[in-house]
Amino acid sequence: MIIKNICCIGAGYVGGPTMTVIANKNPNVKITVVDLNHARINAWNDPDVNNIPIYEPGLSKLVENARGKNLFFSTDVDKAIHEAEMIFISVNTPTKTYGKGKGMAADLKYIELCARQIARIATSDKIVVEKSTLPVRTAQALKAILDHTGNGVKFQILSNPEFLAEGTAVQDLLSPDRVLIGGEQSEEGIEAIQALVDIYASWVPLERILRTNVWSSELSKLTANAFLAQRVSSINAISELCEATGADVDEVSKAIGMDSRIGPKFLKASVGFGGSCFQKDILNLVYIAKTYGLNEVADYWEQVIIMNDHQKGRFADKIVSTLYNTVSGKKIAFLGWAFKKDTNDTRESAAIYVADALLHEQAEITVYDPKVTAEQIYADLDYLNLRSPEENRKYVKVVNDPYEACKAAHAVAILTEWDEFKTYNWKKVYDAVIKPAFLFDGRSILNADQLSAIGFKYTGIGK
Ligand code: UDX
Ligand code: UDX
Ligand code: ADP
Repeated sequence: MIIKNICCIGAGYVGGPTMTVIANKNPNVKITVVDLNHARINAWNDPDVNNIPIYEPGLSKLVENARGKNLFFSTDVDKAIHEAEMIFISVNTPTKTYGKGKGMAADLKYIELCARQIARIATSDKIVVEKSTLPVRTAQALKAILDHTGNGVKFQILSNPEFLAEGTAVQDLLSPDRVLIGGEQSEEGIEAIQALVDIYASWVPLERILRTNVWSSELSKLTANAFLAQRVSSINAISELCEATGADVDEVSKAIGMDSRIGPKFLKASVGFGGSCFQKDILNLVYIAKTYGLNEVADYWEQVIIMNDHQKGRFADKIVSTLYNTVSGKKIAFLGWAFKKDTNDTRESAAIYVADALLHEQAEITVYDPKVTAEQIYADLDYLNLRSPEENRKYVKVVNDPYEACKAAHAVAILTEWDEFKTYNWKKVYDAVIKPAFLFDGRSILNADQLSAIGFKYTGIGK
């Protein structure tokens, strides 16, 4: 089967970059990315390509190459569904905030809405591709909805999880470690898998394209994220032990990472992992395990989240205890708000929880982040629903200049590992802060010796 028209429902962090790369590599395929959110689609269509809604290094250039040629952004969901032979579902699947599975299970309402909409509109056979992270067996639910409410047309459901990491999305998409495609093991299923393989084969070597059954594919995505998050929690657990014993966690990471069975990546101790995937996917895994009565499995993975929460809390506690057990009325400068560098995404960012803990101690916070807007920072705090919007705006200030953020601060805290923080004139910062000049490096990106020589009381993670 040759695919000529692709529709992607959801123009977010996953759908936007993924479709942009597919369009660049498949000039003969027309790709329409649709979203209910008009503002988001308008931003994707902004004549100035620097205004696209997602910041990812290299992305705007690729959008410029394909937009208006074979890549389109639209709010006309029905039309795009109608035209397409292949439909990617790339909508958000947040953790449920109500009812059964609250705080654990994925909320599939957006996925279900998509399925019902596809079933209503489709008048020709379609391949539907799950691109969002979903609990195992979602494909089955999708199929049930499509087959029972459709217009008699045939649907094939594929699971094609996304492994891109934010901040390196374009690079990850251009040269993926692997592409995973799960599908039904029937003749039609295998044909559908092949149609998607052909799209990726335009630029991905065939040996990197894996074909599995649907459930293996769905579970692999949750497992990959659980393993990655587990490495961060594991090294963070060791960071606390390092602080207690005088070992240096960076030295430990290096030493263990050189064991080829362990490997060097994802061993950077930090203030805690964030992002839209890790916590959500582990909670999902825990929920699924519990559903099957596998309590030891559930407890094992839940510990990764418990450790992460502990790490965020510990960082805030360290600031309070170092500042003579009170931060009440003291200004704390936050450098960084995004959950990692090179993204403007703040979902589940450690900064939000550290800020909350410090606000609870009546601190006043001034934030500088090179890419995150003030509007987003306030939205994150308001979303916690622990303080009124007025209080959040009174006790948290957002500025556009890092030196202004640090001026007259009782402590400076680094929450995101932005490269530019390393290039600052730290002597100038030192001169501007209240002494003793406390610096809490939640990402251990600065040179402790140099900063101590300037006069800072430097605290890193796991040192
Ligand atoms: C281990 C460490 O590998 C080694 O670096 C250290 O010096 C001593 O401890 P060892 O216990 O000899 O070495 O064997 P290892 O290959 O690590 O296996 C340990 C156990 O894990 C075995 O029972 C093995 O069967 C099991 N294992 C290992 C698995 O079940 N699955 C695996 O993927 C790997
Ligand atoms: C993750 C997976 O890496 C990606 O494959 C999947 O598709 C989506 O989820 P992402 O959340 O974008 O990607 O970023 P990632 O680089 O994995 O970082 C997640 C969090 O872990 C960040 O807060 C990061 O700062 C933190 N982290 C990562 C560490 O604290 N230490 C590390 O060594 C690595
Ligand atoms: P992700 O990181 O998974 O890409 P995002 O929240 O960035 O998540 O993007 C998901 C997008 O999906 C949002 O822009 C949202 O408006 C869109 N969306 C959700 N449900 C639907 C739907 N039924 N039809 C069209 N777009 C949808």
